[in-house]
Amino acid sequence: MKKGSGGHDGITPLMRQYNKIKEQYPDKILFFRMGDFYEMFGDDAVKAAPILNVALTSRGHMNGARIPLAGVPYHAMDKYLARLLEAGEKVVVVEQVEDPKLAKGVVKREVVEIITPGTATIDGVADIASPLYLGGIYQDNDASAAGIAYIDLLSGKFYLDEGTSEKMIEKLRVLSPQEIIFPSGESVPDLIEVLKRSGERRLTPFDGWNFDYQTAVRELTAFFGVGTLDGFGVAPFHRGLTAAGAIYRYLREANRNHLDHVTKITVAASDDYMALDYSTVRNLELVKNLSESTEKDSLFSAVNLTLTAGGARLLKENILHPFCRPEPILHRQKGVKELFLQREISLRLPPLLRKFPDLERLAGRLGMRKLNPRQLASLREGLLVADELMTIVRDLRSPVFQDMVQSYPATMELSRLIEKALTDEPPLVSNKGNVIRAGYSAELDNLKDSIKSARVFIASLQQKERERTGIPSLKVGYNQVFGYYIEITRTHLEKTPSDYIRKQTLVNAERFITQELKEKEELIAAAEEKIFALEERLYNELVENAAESLKDIIAVAEIISEFDLIAALADLASARMYCCPDIDENTALEIIGGRHPVIENILPAGNFIANDLSLAADTDRIMILTGPNMSGKSTYLRQIGLIVILAQIGSFVPAESARIGLVDRVFTRVGAIDNLARGQSTFLVEMIETSNILHNATEKSLLLLDEVGRGTSTFDGLSIAWAVVEFINENIRARTVFATHYHELTGLAALYDRVRNYQVSVKRWEDTIIFLHKIIPGGCDDSYGIEVARLAGVPRSIVGRSRELLHLLESGKFSQSELARGIHKNMNQRSLFDSPPSPVEEELREMNIDSLTPLEALRILSEMKRKLDDK
Ligand SMILES: Nc1ncnc2c1ncn2[C@@H]1O[C@H](COP(=O)(O)OP(=O)(O)OP(=O)(O)O)[C@@H](O)[C@H]1O
Ligand SMILES: [Mg+2]
Repeated sequence: MKKGSGGHDGITPLMRQYNKIKEQYPDKILFFRMGDFYEMFGDDAVKAAPILNVALTSRGHMNGARIPLAGVPYHAMDKYLARLLEAGEKVVVVEQVEDPKLAKGVVKREVVEIITPGTATIDGVADIASPLYLGGIYQDNDASAAGIAYIDLLSGKFYLDEGTSEKMIEKLRVLSPQEIIFPSGESVPDLIEVLKRSGERRLTPFDGWNFDYQTAVRELTAFFGVGTLDGFGVAPFHRGLTAAGAIYRYLREANRNHLDHVTKITVAASDDYMALDYSTVRNLELVKNLSESTEKDSLFSAVNLTLTAGGARLLKENILHPFCRPEPILHRQKGVKELFLQREISLRLPPLLRKFPDLERLAGRLGMRKLNPRQLASLREGLLVADELMTIVRDLRSPVFQDMVQSYPATMELSRLIEKALTDEPPLVSNKGNVIRAGYSAELDNLKDSIKSARVFIASLQQKERERTGIPSLKVGYNQVFGYYIEITRTHLEKTPSDYIRKQTLVNAERFITQELKEKEELIAAAEEKIFALEERLYNELVENAAESLKDIIAVAEIISEFDLIAALADLASARMYCCPDIDENTALEIIGGRHPVIENILPAGNFIANDLSLAADTDRIMILTGPNMSGKSTYLRQIGLIVILAQIGSFVPAESARIGLVDRVFTRVGAIDNLARGQSTFLVEMIETSNILHNATEKSLLLLDEVGRGTSTFDGLSIAWAVVEFINENIRARTVFATHYHELTGLAALYDRVRNYQVSVKRWEDTIIFLHKIIPGGCDDSYGIEVARLAGVPRSIVGRSRELLHLLESGKFSQSELARGIHKNMNQRSLFDSPPSPVEEELREMNIDSLTPLEALRILSEMKRKLDDK
């Protein structure tokens, strides 16, 4: 580091350079390269030091005050960047762009990269099973519609979409991008407010003029090198294109100038895929569980037997976007079936698939020119493994495999080239030598040859000098500071030859150099510098060369991902005894012996009770499912949704047999406890979700409604539930399973042909109940709520009292006041209704539940429990 002498304003030239760059990025943290460190100054240092857990020091003065300073070693940069991103910060990376040895004055520095959550491509940090999207959203004067676009920088996949604002917000929530850009301006659009309220934290305002349709079309056309965007099928989507154009500009501003792996932009929305809304994705726990928001016990984690990163990502993407049309489903399903039947072939796959690197992301790195020599070697390995896998695929017969063989590109030439060029174990950096193999470049080989004799001289020097001087302990060594030396211990010093030149004195020894050794050393140093530079140049040429084949590399990656997924689904079918569902375009759903793919896995083997289902839009349209608490209604409801989704990604399903009349959308309304923190009451959320379903469901949809109406008073709830069922039956005509505690709803079956009653059976045994978890026809008119309360350990006196009250309630029709009086008459012990309220009861009455977060509620609950226990 060169220290300036201080300018006229008392600021060193270095700090002046720093300030000039920092001015342009007031809201981002500057990583300022100085030697082997990235330094942060001033407020940046103060802010970042605790996040990064590094020491906060200071250096120099500015206007009389010490300048805070914090630094991180350059080679560990990714780790620190990841922490800053996690903390919601954005980082500007400033590098030295000239050799400090050649610099006159302060070393020249430039911004090389801007790192934001959506543009980061940090090694080893990204979750391999999830795409990392940078999203953008745009609205014109019509606030009811919006356009979105999103890109996964690591894979190069770029999409756009357009529709009602509501739909677009749903879509973004399902995708959960790392970062979403929106046009900044005086008035923040409503939909940004909605996103914020829904808990979206990674919103980045981006100057409004970057969102311009004409500019977007011009720049994207130029970027893709096409005459028109019509070929991508995106032309009609003006709002979506505007958002895509802004994303492109945002990437360029972040200095992502190389994007060769982004070869197309496609429309994400299409009738080919089932559109699952956010609440369904959550309620069915497709990729995350409801309780902790981790992957554990989600459908994805339960069925993911893929062995490659690309395969895992494809599976997750498909679970969130199942197919809607029979062709793609059957295409994949036939492949799964073939591998399912050919287990001996399947067994040959795992060793190969495990070896397969994340080729898709390596291609992305190549496209961004962020591929180090070791990664290039890994890319080649990927191509070779893919070739090997294809020899197996060639023997398979299903159309999906034949298509793979047809479209598989030849990449032999590229892998040969890489093999010829790279050493066997190339390093992580390209500018420190050992990258290029001998025989690849005559120029390089000559350079290396030119120092060969010097190296031989040094290698043999020790032996030679020992013989010449007769000192057996004489040593030839090397260190960074002094270079080569000859070391003689004190005891032998008098034998030192006269041509030795003293260089360094140690406690027990002296170090020397000879004229000849010095010359050879200089020769090697000069040549090495040239060798390193040449190797780096050759490497960069090699990378450019490889980038020419990007399309092919991406195609290979896609084929292997699909193959891995099919193999994994075949393994799943065989390991868990799934069956191959019949797929057709009727509106029937027939499942024999269906199981819940996640819960059956958690319970001890054989403990899950299988259940059937028979629904058809024109005959058995609506199933009213009653049954006691804890009997398995919700489990059954979800299992139907999960089976349909699995079937529609081409998988086998957990059942003995299944016929799936294709579903265009699965809608769910399942318990809501999760939105309390967002200031919406349970009942409000329930009604919002119900309303969404009633507006958007079609005759081909599948509706899974769990206790609609529960969140309010009995009569309100019952009335709403009743009316909803009538509406579905008459207007939507969708296949529906409606789980409820309102036994009154079983009356609907008598009024409507297509409504059927089912119940989950339980057995009474002495004075307890046994849950059979078996769905049988008929309505259940007992909820056994009191039994469940007893099982849960509610005090005996309360259980007894509840039974008394229940009998009274069931004995006749009472108005509230009559009921209260009736109970009084029958009571000679202390009445529940007029005993003075306990402090806990008081507290409960005072409490506003809607304003509590689940955590607070838990805390209060345990506090109350403590008070009661203390009594
Ligand atoms: N088919 C089944 N086989 C075995 N165990 C089951 C089955 N279905 C449900 N269970 C078990 O019973 C528990 C309760 O099931 P579930 O939550 O579906 O009941 P529910 O009827 O919806 O209750 P509530 O009315 O209180 O909402 C589950 O957690 C599961 O452990
Ligand atoms: Mg339930």
